[in-house]
Amino acid sequence: MLTASQLTSLQAILPADRIHLDAETCERYGQDWTRYTTPRAAAIVFPMGIEEVQAVVRWANAQGVGIVPSGGRTGLSGGAVAAQGEVVVSLERMNRIDGFDPLARTVRCQAGVITAALQQFAADHGLYYPVDFASSGSSQIGGNIATNAGGIRVVRYGMTREWVAGLTAVSGSGEVLECNLGLAKNNAGYDFRHLFIGSEGTLGLVVEATMRLTDLPPATTVLLLALPRLADIMAVFHAFRSALTLQAFEFFSDLALTHVLAAQQATAPLAERQPFYVLLELETAVQSQEEAVLQVFSACLEQGWVCDGVIAQSQQQAKSLWRLREGISAAITPYTPYKNDISVVLSRLPQFVARLQGVLARDYPDFEVLWYGHIGDGNLHINVLKPASWALEDFRHACEQVNGQVFALVAEFAGSMSAEHGVGLLKRDYLGVTRSAEEIALMRGVKAVFDPNCIMNPGKLLA
Ligand code: MLT
Ligand code: ZN
Repeated sequence: MLTASQLTSLQAILPADRIHLDAETCERYGQDWTRYTTPRAAAIVFPMGIEEVQAVVRWANAQGVGIVPSGGRTGLSGGAVAAQGEVVVSLERMNRIDGFDPLARTVRCQAGVITAALQQFAADHGLYYPVDFASSGSSQIGGNIATNAGGIRVVRYGMTREWVAGLTAVSGSGEVLECNLGLAKNNAGYDFRHLFIGSEGTLGLVVEATMRLTDLPPATTVLLLALPRLADIMAVFHAFRSALTLQAFEFFSDLALTHVLAAQQATAPLAERQPFYVLLELETAVQSQEEAVLQVFSACLEQGWVCDGVIAQSQQQAKSLWRLREGISAAITPYTPYKNDISVVLSRLPQFVARLQGVLARDYPDFEVLWYGHIGDGNLHINVLKPASWALEDFRHACEQVNGQVFALVAEFAGSMSAEHGVGLLKRDYLGVTRSAEEIALMRGVKAVFDPNCIMNPGKLLA
């Protein structure tokens, strides 16, 4: 907790109504969507501008107090948790969108702009912001940048990194850095923008960004396909991608469907249940593309890769198919799942999946294990559900005991132990699965340059 003199000096920087010390606010802003760590924030502060953020960072350096940057708190790795008496710096009141440049197709966003607000701003101007995920209604641009958020359209548009033309950050030592100035071309030395993207608040706070927009997508067709065997999924991917442009290629297991149907009180989308489902969105601007969808679908049926499917006949039906995929995470939140967010390169995915199925069946015989994710990006979300009778700590411990085999497989296949959710607190001790000791040592060196007193998001990403 803050001492009286620390509080007095903080109150000299921010008005009293933007420093919150009450238990309810500290609990709410001291955690993200992970529920594994007890929040213990010393205070929550709400700066309204870059100078105030800078003043808070300078204060934290002088006082030796840790800072946790905070956006929509929708993260899944504990990256926004304040568990050690840190001050949470919420950027939610810095939520202005301005500086729209129609020629450059960029727009300036403060860090607290909600993702859906940027998407809506783009649509209002006949353009498109393509990074999208189930938490678009509450996640914020600053958090998206700090975690390099991915989502459901990475296969077509890439991750948040692709859409940041420039950003302003306050480094851990309190300097205001203008990174890349919104330029399309700028080879004048190191590009610090890319260091801040995905740094999980460990180098400084992203306070503003210039975001790229693009053309509205063409008309699309949404399909849900049922697969008897997961082993055939990349053949289906290859068949559709060879003929058409994919906007999304997602998958989920029948167990995931069972949970989402129960949570949404919805009915199954197909007459017969199968072990796996693929949700595709394809660009179908012209009739020949619509015909190609049917041709490839028929070919997949003939090959036996797919045994049933539905093509959405309306926007509403497309939305309800998407709800089945996007609703999985919320449906299983009450089970406090142990989350794996892993990836390998696409060409190695079939062999990886076959081996992983064996490992999970052997190591998790007593738990429900759900498969879903962005398989078109090589990214699997393997979620192990906690039975109601298990205590959270015991369950986490049990999972950590055996999950080493999953990580060993990821390492063997040169994959990532965190494909899109970041490292945060929960995955910190597994960073070495994907990054070499030399790389981790260099990461520490980079952190020391930007945050010499280690006040930025202490304990996240690096121990
Ligand atoms: C998703 O793809 O649904 C999200 O990354 C959330 C999750 O993995 O639970
Ligand atoms: Zn995901």
